[in-house]
Amino acid sequence: MEATVKSLIQEGLELTDRALEELIPSAETVPASIHGAMRHSVFAGGKRLRPVLAMQAGITIAGALPKGIEQLGAAIEMLHTYSLIHDDLPALDNDDLRRGKPTCHVAFGEAIAILAGDALQTRAYEVLAGLQCPAEAAVKIIGLVANATGTVEGMIGGQVLDIESEHKKPTPELVDAIHRAKTGALIRVSVVAGGVYAGAAAEDVARLDLFGRKAGLAFQIVDDVLDLTEDSAKLGKTAGKDLATEKATWPAVYGIDQSLRDAARLIEEAFAALEPYGSRADGLKAVARFLVERKN
Ligand code: IPE
Ligand code: IPE
Ligand code: MG
Ligand code: MG
Ligand code: MG
Repeated sequence: MEATVKSLIQEGLELTDRALEELIPSAETVPASIHGAMRHSVFAGGKRLRPVLAMQAGITIAGALPKGIEQLGAAIEMLHTYSLIHDDLPALDNDDLRRGKPTCHVAFGEAIAILAGDALQTRAYEVLAGLQCPAEAAVKIIGLVANATGTVEGMIGGQVLDIESEHKKPTPELVDAIHRAKTGALIRVSVVAGGVYAGAAAEDVARLDLFGRKAGLAFQIVDDVLDLTEDSAKLGKTAGKDLATEKATWPAVYGIDQSLRDAARLIEEAFAALEPYGSRADGLKAVARFLVERKN
């Protein structure tokens, strides 16, 4: 990884982690079990790529890091972590390793894990409602985020399709729909919300949406490839899981080589949407490139 993108991601991660530390109740706050569980999963070592994308989108629009944007990043990371806790549950992917640690339900039991996911979701919206941007922008962000994590072409809808497609022969249309929804939508909205936070006009929102759509799909294609090519220690989650459960993945339809070509092409196409911003979008582009070049 190039030194500049590495430090840019590291800085975004640290800003996000400080915000999360303040925004999530301490592990001693009653009822302690759920706060311990929320913190276990949030601070297990995520890459914080969605907050970093939001921050870089903010810089693309405003020219500098908008004040308080790490709270937006933290709220998005809470929603992402909630989706991971629920994704790992026995009723969904039934995984016991996440971010290099035992999954939430393994460490705290299924009931508390379900509730920890729910609690991260409600806390995320509480944080979004108090964002330090103009109220109109905050309301817009809340609507966009709720939509992107919802059932119609959003995260939950994508998870439904993913689960219901296990053990079936996947088609190009099906994996496209699953990936855009289960993962692409939250990546897309991270970029768009970062822009809205920074005061994006309608044409900016359209460009960021197009960029985020392509980058989000590329991200999940690479997640599928890594499941096949890396080991559990490197991934911090169980490798080889998709084959074992016959998941509808991009490589299952196109093979690994074509999948990597598709991801690289999507990122190049995504860059075109950012052309009007010139060098202000360099950070956002660098993070997008990292999305497809990462090894975990
Ligand atoms: C993993 O996302 C789950 C998917 C949506 C594919 P990340 O690869 O961003 O996971 P963390 O946040 O770094 O653990
Ligand atoms: C997860 O997709 C998507 C969400 C959590 C919404 P995966 O099931 O492929 O994610 P991993 O591989 O377990 O991280
Ligand atoms: Mg899954
Ligand atoms: Mg999974
Ligand atoms: Mg996966």
